[in-house]
Amino acid sequence: MLNRSLISISDFSKEEYLEILRIASEFENKPVQNILEGKVIATLFFEPSTRTRLSFESAVNRMGGKVIGFSDASSSSVQKGETLKDTILTVSNYADLIVMRHPLEGSSRYAAEIAPVPVVNAGDGANQHPTQCLLDLYSIQKTQGTLENLKISIVGDLKYGRTVHSLLQAMSGFNPTFNFIAPEELRMPQEYLKFLDSKGIKYEEHTNLAKNIKDSDIVYMTRVQRERFADTLEYEKVKNVYILNKRMLAGTKENMKVLHPLPRVNEISTDVDDTPQAYYFQQAQNGVYTRQAIISKILGLK
Ligand code: CP
Repeated sequence: MLNRSLISISDFSKEEYLEILRIASEFENKPVQNILEGKVIATLFFEPSTRTRLSFESAVNRMGGKVIGFSDASSSSVQKGETLKDTILTVSNYADLIVMRHPLEGSSRYAAEIAPVPVVNAGDGANQHPTQCLLDLYSIQKTQGTLENLKISIVGDLKYGRTVHSLLQAMSGFNPTFNFIAPEELRMPQEYLKFLDSKGIKYEEHTNLAKNIKDSDIVYMTRVQRERFADTLEYEKVKNVYILNKRMLAGTKENMKVLHPLPRVNEISTDVDDTPQAYYFQQAQNGVYTRQAIISKILGLK
């Protein structure tokens, strides 16, 4: 992984994911390790973020490194018309690694092709969110004791949700059974279903939430991605289509955990928050350890 960019979850092998998870666990046991002294990490966020940007920054701070960057491209020279290429080539002079979120699919791959330093994709449009995926794998392994042979229900916006596309690809190496729960308009895209078919991975597609989560090990809720809809009326039709509440958790498996990449809007009722099944805030905490592992592995410090 030394000096390699992380753009799509498929850039890393199963063995490499497992190595990241092992190192994340070391960081969970000892979060403050001064191994990044003298290193600078740039966080370039062309789209809003709370968890991804701040957990990356927290990860760097806990390892003794420094962070530069912007959380709003309107405060950068992009506002004056600077191209992405020029921004990336310039920031590469100031940082050892670039973490970038951008609304355009493929933008991170492009940045990695031109940057002389590694680039980590922090989300590119509806495409991929590989570091979220690694923290999701870490959370699944931690709560289930394994990644193998699990039944995973993925609920909500399966069309535009980049976290679910990365998760589907990564989990396909661990013989899962997927249960996709989405309205017709937001079904899992055909390309991903074909990918599962090619690997012989079992999946079902459903539209009803309450009836279809009882035998799940993981229920992965997602937000309907308002920012990806061209037509606001189309968003209004589906925005509250699934709301998981405490009553629906009755009869689910004892080991079942509810995950959500967050932010949530209405898709998990707050009465779920205090149940033993709710795991989404711990999942966000796991993001710091996982991102510590990713940075330290790419920079050859672990
Ligand atoms: N999960 C996630 O990507 O959250 P943010 O948009 O807050 O970074």
